[in-house]
Amino acid sequence: MSDGDEEVIISARDIMRDYGQGENAVHALRGISLDIIKGKTTAIIGKSGSGKSTLAHILATLDRPTSGELTINGIKALGISQKQLNQMRNQQFGFVFQQFFMDPHATVLDNVMLPMEIAGVGIREREKRALKALDAVDLSDKPNVRATDLSGGQKQRVCIARAIVNNPEIIFADEPTGNLDSKTSELIENLLFKLNKNKGITLVIVTHDDDLANKCQRRIELHDGKIVACDGENCKLVEAK
Ligand SMILES: Nc1ncnc2c1ncn2[C@@H]1O[C@H](COP(=O)(O)OP(=O)(O)OP(=O)(O)O)[C@@H](O)[C@H]1O
Ligand SMILES: [Mg+2]
Repeated sequence: MSDGDEEVIISARDIMRDYGQGENAVHALRGISLDIIKGKTTAIIGKSGSGKSTLAHILATLDRPTSGELTINGIKALGISQKQLNQMRNQQFGFVFQQFFMDPHATVLDNVMLPMEIAGVGIREREKRALKALDAVDLSDKPNVRATDLSGGQKQRVCIARAIVNNPEIIFADEPTGNLDSKTSELIENLLFKLNKNKGITLVIVTHDDDLANKCQRRIELHDGKIVACDGENCKLVEAK
């Protein structure tokens, strides 16, 4: 499906996500429909507990919805095998999620090389691309430092380096500037938007930060697991449902 010459990468329809069952069930997402357009930047905003991370995880295929449809580059993502899904995710998606900061005891270089190892890239190529990515995030002096010995902002930059090594089509970021000072936040933001501008990487950013949200072409606001507002580009696609 497309609108004009715009290409839809991810299409979500009537996504529901319940945690738990029966009386204790939490209805974290209650019918979310949206399209993510190739090359565009989308912010997911809303109060704490409104379902932002749950939605980001589902769009990124890290979690499965209780019901609904998810189409990624024309493929019905909920119908394919876990192996195919893992492969697609590893090749096409990059993540800047703090909880996915993998191995604190491994070196920065090893952490950045991991997605390429999974993708079966040879060791020399892995190292070359990882060093290039570390250079892009201004950490070329830290490849052999243990990840645990980095500052919060440096860790976040390692996450970005790791997110870009497989040349993803789309980067998902959940509160990428959450615990950072304003100067480091700006650096991280600039890095992400540069990837969008220079490489055409689509961005989906969950954030509490209005300034960051306002830099995105579209803002989708959640409240109690529903989209309650959309502003910027491509909002009519959401309303059409
Ligand atoms: N693993 C889980 N088990 C049970 N309930 C969960 C789980 N994860 C999230 N929830 C619930 O689902 C709802 C949405 O949570 P979610 O983490 O998506 O919110 P959020 O908008 O990302 O919040 P925050 O801004 O605080 O990160 C909340 O009510 C939360 O308590
Ligand atoms: Mg969250």
